[in-house]
Amino acid sequence: MRIAVGADHAGYQMKDELAAYLVDQGHDVQDFGTFSADSVDYPDVALRVARAVALGEADRGLIVCGTGIGTSIVANKVRGVRAALCHDTFSARMARQHNDSNVLCLGARVIGPALALEILTAWLGAGFEAGGRHERRVRRIAELEEEV
Ligand code: RB5
Repeated sequence: MRIAVGADHAGYQMKDELAAYLVDQGHDVQDFGTFSADSVDYPDVALRVARAVALGEADRGLIVCGTGIGTSIVANKVRGVRAALCHDTFSARMARQHNDSNVLCLGARVIGPALALEILTAWLGAGFEAGGRHERRVRRIAELEEEV
């Protein structure tokens, strides 16, 4: 998979670790930074990752900030992006199976690296349950993006 990754200063270390894992697993990783603990504004990074997914340059996106909240708010403003903030594996699976989420947001100040990796693998490994009520609801989300 082509996976766009990004983080602010609070999440860059976790992002780097997860990105290395993804590369190791054979994914094509596009890293939008940041690359140090120097303070940056999370909206800018989140927007870059979300745009890459929305434009079809990446199949999925992964964004890490302190809580995952700010970046998920930003990513969900981009048309076509369904960003899910998940801090447990059940939500991560559901976010794929029911919501066809294409961006995963994590909070590096909320969970540790081992759980983050489990969440990421659960999210990547789960497929969307297409063809029924979930697809109808996800289609409705796309319609709403044109209405608001
Ligand atoms: C940065 O201090 C922090 O606000 C940011 O990483 C994130 O948690 C925002 O939602």
